[in-house]
Amino acid sequence: MTEADNFIASTKKLLLSVPLRVKILGLALGLILTLSFITIFLVRQELNQNIDHALREEAGLVAGELSYQARDLLLINDVFALNSLLRNMRKNRPDIRYIFVHNSRQQVLAHTFDNLFPMELMDQEPFPGGHQGPVTRRLKTSEGMIWDSHAEVFSGGDIFIRVGVKGDNLRRQLSSLTGTLVKMTGLVAGVGTVLSLFLSGLIAKPVTQLLSATREIRRGNYNVALPWEADDEIGKLIEGFGDMARSLQHAETDREDKERLQREFLQRVMAGQEGERKRIARELHDQTGQALASCMVELKLLEQATEGKALRQGIDRLKKSITSELEALHTLAMDLRPSVLDDLGLIPAIQMSVDRFRQRYATEIRLRFLGDMEERTDPCVETCIYRIIQESLTNMAKYAQASEASIFLERKTETIRGGIEDNGIGFDHETIDAAKSMGIYGMRERIQLLGGKFAINSEHGLGTMISFEIPVAPRVCHEKN
Ligand SMILES: Nc1ncnc2c1ncn2[C@@H]1O[C@H](COP(=O)(O)OP(=O)(O)OP(=O)(O)O)[C@@H](O)[C@H]1O
Ligand SMILES: [Mg+2]
Repeated sequence: MTEADNFIASTKKLLLSVPLRVKILGLALGLILTLSFITIFLVRQELNQNIDHALREEAGLVAGELSYQARDLLLINDVFALNSLLRNMRKNRPDIRYIFVHNSRQQVLAHTFDNLFPMELMDQEPFPGGHQGPVTRRLKTSEGMIWDSHAEVFSGGDIFIRVGVKGDNLRRQLSSLTGTLVKMTGLVAGVGTVLSLFLSGLIAKPVTQLLSATREIRRGNYNVALPWEADDEIGKLIEGFGDMARSLQHAETDREDKERLQREFLQRVMAGQEGERKRIARELHDQTGQALASCMVELKLLEQATEGKALRQGIDRLKKSITSELEALHTLAMDLRPSVLDDLGLIPAIQMSVDRFRQRYATEIRLRFLGDMEERTDPCVETCIYRIIQESLTNMAKYAQASEASIFLERKTETIRGGIEDNGIGFDHETIDAAKSMGIYGMRERIQLLGGKFAINSEHGLGTMISFEIPVAPRVCHEKN
């Protein structure tokens, strides 16, 4: 970086760090003052040129006029009248500094000076001769610049008249005009300062409000009030900011709702687990325990039995009760988690669940599997699909009153697509209370945990369709084969 680049960068940084109010004020004042001073400078220059032109004209005009008027007085040698003529002319024209008449020998015949005639005027370079009218030039004197005009009184003669015009009066007027312009500039700058302070207040106020609103949002308070009704860019910015705050608030509320639902879901899952344990304990105690106790009694009877017939009857009873108990244990195990899901895979487990459903309910269920569904996948994916189908079948049995239903699964390269459809009464899934009904919520959660997609379509009288798509190899899975 060169020094110039450094300078530009540090100036830019300095300008950007100046408060907004000062920037607006500086801009307004800078513009007003620059414009005013340029205008004053140009006006002064133009007027100075015009004044110079007018003074030059006046000097020539007066010299020409006096050269005629003085002729007769010089002919009769009336010096007194000549002096009066010159003085009157000077009195009537305040810009004239002097008038005098001299001959070619540099003798002054009449003049308008109150005291002695300043000889420095005679020492000046002589005027070029041979001119018909007056000749005017710029003369540098001890009093400043003077337009000095020279005219012959008699053509070809040796008497001349000279008129000096200084233009003090006009220059005073110019100075007073400049003074007025400077005062006006001051006034406009004052008004500009007040206006820009007002304007910067208007601009800075909402920006300050936005700043404090941002701080509030950072503290987690999304309910910020931004009272601004202007339709300009700042108004639109505030409107956009308000929209952003509102959507942040919605997102926050949604997040809180989701967290609450997840907590409730977890509690329901834990309560469900506890209930399931109680049921298993009761079933083991009431049914299996009782059955084993009656087997025990039967065995004791067998011990005492001496007759072959009684022995055979006892063994038959024992076999029956052991068989029925084995079936009960099998059903219990199936309800918990069918071993077929782990041993044989998803498709046999689904077929078994559907067979059991068909035995208990009158709904006709069609199964359709596409792609290589026999190939085993991640245990989490298998469990997830199995539980979704199980919950859908339970809901169908509980609410749908469906005569037909179909389940389909399709294995694609990276995902498994699936759907469960029934022709039952349907329902409005927008209105279900997620806090009370955890089945559908649980399906969605399970699928989202595995990075999949879930959708439910249902309408009153038009049945229900649940569809999902799950990656074959999800990123998170805590189940092991
Ligand atoms: N196939 C369906 N046909 C008709 N209505 C259904 C069907 N599936 C679900 N529903 C309706 O949707 C509601 C929510 O179902 P969800 O499975 O989420 O909860 P639940 O079955 O009521 O309770 P949970 O599953 O938590 O024990 C049900 O109460 C029912 O009204
Ligand atoms: Mg349910």
